[in-house]
Amino acid sequence: MDLMERFGERIEEVEREMERLLEIKKPENLYVAARHLPLAGGKRLRPLISILSAEVVGGEWRKVVPFSVSLELLHNFTLVHDDIMDRSTMRRGVETVHVKFGEDTAIIAGDILFAKAYESLHNLDVDPVIFKRLNLLLTTCIEEICEGQEIDMEFEGRTDITEEEYIEMINKKTAALFSCSAEGGGIIGGGKDEEVKALSRYGRYFGLGFQIWDDYLDLKGSEREFGKRIGNDIREGKKTLMIIHALSNADQRDREKILSILGKKDASNEDIKEIVEILERIGSLDYAKERAMEFSRKAKESLSNLQNNEARSSLEELVDYSISRRR
Ligand code: IPE
Ligand code: IPE
Ligand code: MG
Ligand code: MG
Ligand code: MG
Repeated sequence: MDLMERFGERIEEVEREMERLLEIKKPENLYVAARHLPLAGGKRLRPLISILSAEVVGGEWRKVVPFSVSLELLHNFTLVHDDIMDRSTMRRGVETVHVKFGEDTAIIAGDILFAKAYESLHNLDVDPVIFKRLNLLLTTCIEEICEGQEIDMEFEGRTDITEEEYIEMINKKTAALFSCSAEGGGIIGGGKDEEVKALSRYGRYFGLGFQIWDDYLDLKGSEREFGKRIGNDIREGKKTLMIIHALSNADQRDREKILSILGKKDASNEDIKEIVEILERIGSLDYAKERAMEFSRKAKESLSNLQNNEARSSLEELVDYSISRRR
């Protein structure tokens, strides 16, 4: 993605600072485990969104970096624990932390990343009122993610989830952090209230489209590019938008087939293929893509009253990327 190349300098600065914070000390195993995922790559979308959000309102990107690092560390913390909960064995093309280091160490490695996210916040050079505002923003965001993650798991045990319930769940587990990234960037950049609000809304819609596309890739992506095992959501019984659409639009026979595989931990690749074929045939994949596009349109519309500068074009480009990406 050339957008990433264009902003390479900014991303590299975030990565340098993150690595510095995660310096190895004793007990080494803890820090080696904590570094495993953050240093394995990743798209760094949340840091980039926070930086561009500061720039779009006329701020200087270097001032945002400690906050961007907080966002990425927080994101990585949620992933380490999410992979335990979702029994995921691969992420960013490498073994997940709990597979490589064991569940006990993975839990505490996640906790270290969580603490480091707050540590990084203290490196911000902002006045105390802004600091408090950012601290509360991050804190309420984490609470929302936790709620979303709990709801996501609770849905595994139900087959009557509505589309509305799904949107509310992904709004919490995923869109909250994107919204926090854009809003925080706007605050640090010195944006006016309406600008900050617009950015917050941008992040929400961005996140909704982003998660729908992520669920799509879990079925139709290639493991090599996506870096995660395909079909994991089916094996875990996740109620993605595509599954919800299919369960209410399939005939009796297809519905029974889907339900017989959904949540089957040892479902084969053939089983997964069979579900994908049904979803394709009844239009559930196309339906999810349409919804993702609708949210991405709304994300871009949210920016319409902001300065029309290079950062704004990049934020818009990022939306298109988020629902066409392969990784
Ligand atoms: C993965 O997020 C978690 C979801 C919200 C789907 P990303 O796709 O941004 O993960 P990385 O950071 O690029 O690995
Ligand atoms: C991502 O949910 C949300 C969080 C990690 C908070 P998923 O479980 O869908 O993300 P992946 O697919 O494992 O990256
Ligand atoms: Mg999950
Ligand atoms: Mg997961
Ligand atoms: Mg997923």
